[in-house]
Amino acid sequence: MANVAAPGRGIGRIFLRKSVAQIQAEHEHGELKRSLGALNLVLLGIGCVIGTGIFVLTGRAAAQFAGPGIMISFVITGILCAFVALCYAELASALPVSGSAYSYTYASMGEVVAWVMGLLLLLEYGLAASTVAVGWSGYAVSLLQDVGVHIPPALTAAPGVSVTDAGGHVIGTGVMNLPAALVIGAVTCLLVAGVSESATVNNIVVFIKLTVVIAFIVIGSRFVHPSNWSPLIPAQVPAPPPGTPMDMGHQIFRALGDVITGNSHSRYGVGGVIHAAAVIFFAYLGFEAVSTAGAEARNPSRDMPIGILGALVICTILYILTSGVLVGIVPYASLDNPAPIATAVNQIGMPWFAILVKIGAIAGLSSVMLVLLYGQTRIFYTMSKDGLLPASLATVHKKFKTPWINTIIVGIAAAGASGLLSLDALSDLSNVGSLAAFALVCVTVFYLRVSHPDLERPFRTPLFPWVPILGAVMCAVLLMSLMSTAATRNFFLIYLAGGIVIYFVFGLWNSKLGKGELVMGHEATPMELPHTGE
Ligand code: ALA
Repeated sequence: MANVAAPGRGIGRIFLRKSVAQIQAEHEHGELKRSLGALNLVLLGIGCVIGTGIFVLTGRAAAQFAGPGIMISFVITGILCAFVALCYAELASALPVSGSAYSYTYASMGEVVAWVMGLLLLLEYGLAASTVAVGWSGYAVSLLQDVGVHIPPALTAAPGVSVTDAGGHVIGTGVMNLPAALVIGAVTCLLVAGVSESATVNNIVVFIKLTVVIAFIVIGSRFVHPSNWSPLIPAQVPAPPPGTPMDMGHQIFRALGDVITGNSHSRYGVGGVIHAAAVIFFAYLGFEAVSTAGAEARNPSRDMPIGILGALVICTILYILTSGVLVGIVPYASLDNPAPIATAVNQIGMPWFAILVKIGAIAGLSSVMLVLLYGQTRIFYTMSKDGLLPASLATVHKKFKTPWINTIIVGIAAAGASGLLSLDALSDLSNVGSLAAFALVCVTVFYLRVSHPDLERPFRTPLFPWVPILGAVMCAVLLMSLMSTAATRNFFLIYLAGGIVIYFVFGLWNSKLGKGELVMGHEATPMELPHTGE
């Protein structure tokens, strides 16, 4: 017999929590196909991770902020993501459901926090897909030029963004990034057609992408000039005032102080390395997208941790090597362009390999968009099932078994953002949303360990409590570094405030948990989280 959760009353409803039993019952009764095994999940992760971050933003971050120290930036962000990945793996193994971090917070910190998590994930996945589409457009336009097809500059960039040629000369100003919007449309069609077909496409594309990245590392390493790595961290620009102590300890202290006081537009020096770590954080985004596929995994408790951690470890190693080879082949100052890896390959005089890199990047970035948009639609699906978003977002197509209305709406929104916003704006906003979401995930692990020590956790993060604490603190440092830009900070705060108002206007009144309509197919377990706030 079905159990029905008790309805909430008054303002205390905003802290209602789903019980673990409810989450697991939904998991048992999902309508989506269970077609993904461990290898598919690792590939899903890699498909989402290696993309615009390494193919485009690495060059920008090296040229503008870190110099060859970009390798250290990748190590810093890799460590941060390892902490967060361990936290995600613990939650994904204990609560293997579609919707990922949103569901974890719903079961622990309550509905209003889950809603905020939903808002953060919309920035993380929705805007990240648009960011990647802009990176894709840069490589696609460049490849088309190589074969003699010239797209008018006005149609290759967002309004007001300067368009440059391969030599860095300005050749026009953007009106709309048409290729970016079109590719999001194509990916949306694939997703409407069904997950297993999309996963097969993803696996092939990941193979091509890994081949290109590994080939770049192996071939490129023969052309590295070690002098390009020196100095590893170029001096700070402008130079600190005379008399400022410049040893490494003081530099780190000063850089963190700058981050906290919002003065972090560092160019080179330790501050530059930290700021670059925040910028290339985008390159790591996506390893946790595996956790959004819980409802479509065959054996989630075992395979989800393998998927998340496997994807992260493989990508971290490849990133450190790729960035090292990149800044070793060409002086970092010449890497601030839309296709820096192709620039490096051109430098070593292998035009055919540059074409191959562009084809690999185009294919690789397509798979990233696929996984990001997939993740976003599954989060909306879960939120709609919970009554926090309109019911039509959970309508599953009879033939394709996918949430098609939801997918089409997400696709249109992402296409619009990719056509009209610049790469910098998109990647910064996506990074901000993701860092805040990751910090909240670390806090959730900590909270559940303390409040529910007996909850069954097939995977437990080691070194508790240090892993979630350090993960949350590192996310906060990078988040503050990005929020030192006024436009980013203002957008983020207004977006959050507006989103919370929508919760009080719609979600609070339609929440199935709040109305007592959430049907449970299974008995409550002894680890059931208590309902509070009434
Ligand atoms: N990590 C993904 C990328 O770099 C989102 O494109």
